[in-house]
This record gives sequence, structure tokens and C-alpha cells, in this order.
Amino acid sequence: MALLDIRNLNLAMRSYEGETQILHGIDLVIERGEIWGMVGETGSGKSLTGLSISRLIPTPPGRYLAGSIEFQGTDVLKAAERDMRRLRGRHIGTIFQDPTTNLNPVFRIGTQIVDVALHAGHADPTVLGLSAGASRREFKRAAREKAIEMLDKVGIPKAAERIDDYPHQFSGGMRQRVLIAMAMIGKPDLLIADEPTTALDVSVQAQILRLIHDLVAERNIGVLLITHNLGVVAQICTHVAVMHRGRILESGKVGDVLKRPAHVYTQALLNSVPTVHTKRGELRGLSGLTPESFA
Ligand SMILES: Nc1ncnc2c1ncn2[C@@H]1O[C@H](COP(=O)(O)OP(=O)(O)O)[C@@H](O)[C@H]1O
Ligand SMILES: [Mg+2]
Repeated sequence: MALLDIRNLNLAMRSYEGETQILHGIDLVIERGEIWGMVGETGSGKSLTGLSISRLIPTPPGRYLAGSIEFQGTDVLKAAERDMRRLRGRHIGTIFQDPTTNLNPVFRIGTQIVDVALHAGHADPTVLGLSAGASRREFKRAAREKAIEMLDKVGIPKAAERIDDYPHQFSGGMRQRVLIAMAMIGKPDLLIADEPTTALDVSVQAQILRLIHDLVAERNIGVLLITHNLGVVAQICTHVAVMHRGRILESGKVGDVLKRPAHVYTQALLNSVPTVHTKRGELRGLSGLTPESFA
């Protein structure tokens, strides 16, 4: 049984203009120890694929036309909401692209991460080193200890002191580490990270990628890393799926796909990535519609 097995996923979304099919038959299998990069331009359906895995797209406006998403043998699209809450808090860790679901500026870092730890602890007390019969106070204390331990693990210096800071007292890279700590707190089997490094400068980006890489090595989890950046894929992914207009054009081991791209779109995507060997004037873009096309 695969960790994650997405078969023929077809999703339509309704808007005021009517219903549009967004995902056209997505197939994706992720095993433990694999880091899957999902690449493709904006609007190709990457985020909606990621959100579908934790069943976070409300229906309506979403409607699944066909397909299944099996997580460790459970069909996510058919599971009871109660089971989904347990899956989300404990087995599937997510870092969302949507900034409104990220850190809340008015609450201390500690309050927010302890909340997540408590949620994970209620789904499975062993995550906090407790048994089911533990008291509320024991849960609270263990959740705070867990929060500090995770902040320390993701490289926040002096975690025990900094935990009571507000988000604005942390740098962008540190805030991203906090989000990773939150996603990892329930010891998930699968981590879904949607553009986790897009807003960060290159050196911080490299640190965050290393952190994800180390977590995979240590815990043997599976990762779906959504990005529009092929450089990121080349750096840490074992596998890659190339999305275009709601379809996976090609997928497989990173070495195979990036070395011998079968599809012209993937070739174009690769050609648009600058390397140290790119000469002045050689930077290529993807062909598409620009505002000038309508002039
Ligand atoms: N809530 C929504 N209602 C209608 N259409 C949506 C909604 N969210 C996203 N879409 C459309 O679905 C397509 C895929 O979106 P998304 O998965 O966010 O793309 P990506 O993450 O690859 O940039 C886009 O064309 C977008 O306009
Ligand atoms: Mg997206």
C-alpha cells in the first residue's frame, strides 16, 4: 500500500462565471522517503491538488467529477469529517501558500504553536508523550514543551525564550521555520509544503530546503513540495511531476525527467531556468499571452 495514491483526480470549481474543470485526471503515487516536487506555472492546479489531499476544498464550490485519493489506504474523498480532522492534525502536515492561514500577527508564536500541539495531542496523546487519561494541565505543559522542542529542532536559537515573541519579532526565514515546526509537530507521515520558500532569499531558502531534507532522512516521511521553481526541485527532490493546465504532463525520478524531458513544455520550463553558464541575453521565457498580446 502506497503512502499516497491519487488516481484519475478530476476536480471542477464553480465561480460566478459557471463551473470550470480545473484538474483533468491527476495520477500521483508517493512513497515514504520520497520528496516529490510538483512544478508548473501559476494557475496550473498545484495548490488545488495539494489542498485536495487533506480535503480542504469545500464542495461546493469544488466538485470531484471522478477519481480517488488514498492516504495509507483510506479514501480521503469518502472519509468522515471526524476521521479527516485526525488525519490533518496527525498524519498529514501542511504548509499552505495562502498567507491568511499562516501565523496570526496578534498572537504570540508560542500560543499558536501550542494550539497546534494540543490539537495533535488530542488526536494522538503519544505525540506529546502522554497517555489518553492525562489531565488538562498535563496536556498544556506537554504541549508547551513539545512546541519548544520543535522550535529548537527547526533551528530557532534560544527557543525557550523566543517562543513568547510575536511573529513580527521573527525574520521571514524564522517564521517559515515556525510553520514547518507546526506542520511537523504531529509527526506526520506526509508533509505537503506549498511554495514554502518562495518569499525567502536564496540563502534562507537553501536552509529551509536542507531542513525539509533532514526531516525526511530522519523520519522517513513522504513530501509533496509544490513550487514553480525547478532549481528547488533539482536541489532536494527525488521525484518530480510537471503540471500544465490541470494535467501532469510527465512525472518520474528527478534525474530522468530533468535530464531527458519528454515533453516540450518541460524542456521550455528547463530552458527558462538561468544557470551559472547562462550568458547575457540568453535568458528565455515561456511563450504565452502577455498584456501586449491584447494591444
Ligand atoms: N476558489 C476557486 N474558485 C474557482 N476557481 C479557482 C478557485 N481557486 C482556484 N481556482 C482556479 O483553479 C486554477 C488552479 O489554481 P491553483 O491550484 O491555485 O493553481 P497553482 O497553485 O498551480 O497556481 C486557477 O485557474 C484558478 O483560477
Ligand atoms: Mg498555488
